[in-house]
Amino acid sequence: MQEAFQRSGKARFIRRMFTELSESYDHASTAVALKKDGFWREFAASQVNGSGESVLDVACGTGELTSLLLREGAGRVVGVDFCEAMLRRAALKCRANSVSFALADAEHLPFRDESFTCAVIGFALRNVTDMRRTLDEMVRVVRRGGRIIVLDLGKPRLRLLRKLYYCYLYYLLPRIGALLAREGGYAYYYLPHSLTHFPAQDGVRDLMREAGLRNITVHELTGGIAAVHVGERI
Ligand SMILES: C[S@@+](CC[C@H](N)C(=O)[O-])C[C@H]1O[C@@H](n2cnc3c(N)ncnc32)[C@H](O)[C@@H]1O
Repeated sequence: MQEAFQRSGKARFIRRMFTELSESYDHASTAVALKKDGFWREFAASQVNGSGESVLDVACGTGELTSLLLREGAGRVVGVDFCEAMLRRAALKCRANSVSFALADAEHLPFRDESFTCAVIGFALRNVTDMRRTLDEMVRVVRRGGRIIVLDLGKPRLRLLRKLYYCYLYYLLPRIGALLAREGGYAYYYLPHSLTHFPAQDGVRDLMREAGLRNITVHELTGGIAAVHVGERI
């Protein structure tokens, strides 16, 4: 896997992985997250709070977060992803008139400056090649006073929980995920690897600050296994 990663470049590796995984992504991911992912997404969607006039869901995948954003009362939601197979599933799931989808790279968003009142990215900052560029793009397309919300896995601060979590993440999760996924089961071997190299809570907050965001709040969920960062564009 490491070899494939280096040979094909991260973006190509990730796109191929999600293309293969697209059919089983929803149920396999919910199972390996022990059904906590729904709550984590709901919490992230609730943070749109007052900035939901027009929301961009970056790397929307199969539209799991997109549907919750609509439920939270977002006026208009645009979901983008660079994997066609994932987007096709999102389009089947979210058929409201106020939602649309586009094939696009998070690092080169095809929108004018200040087109949205809020931009959200769920479980995907870990997967992009350049996190800072992705955040810069999200900041660029959001209006002043708008919000940027980042939902991703975190690293628990409590030692015992961290140990238990890492045992699960490195030894059990890949095997369960690979069993449940029809294709692309190696995604669940990649997942712990992606978290090892992810700066998580403090690192993401610093990156958001560097991208010019202010009033950044970090919400640790389930003991820090997941985290939601909310920043304001000034
Ligand atoms: C783990 S899924 C998360 C999907 C969704 N946000 C959710 O909450 O279920 C990660 C998604 O990020 C997308 N992705 C990764 N890198 C991307 C990039 N540079 N541009 C657009 N999409 C990207 C993948 O195609 C995949 O659909």
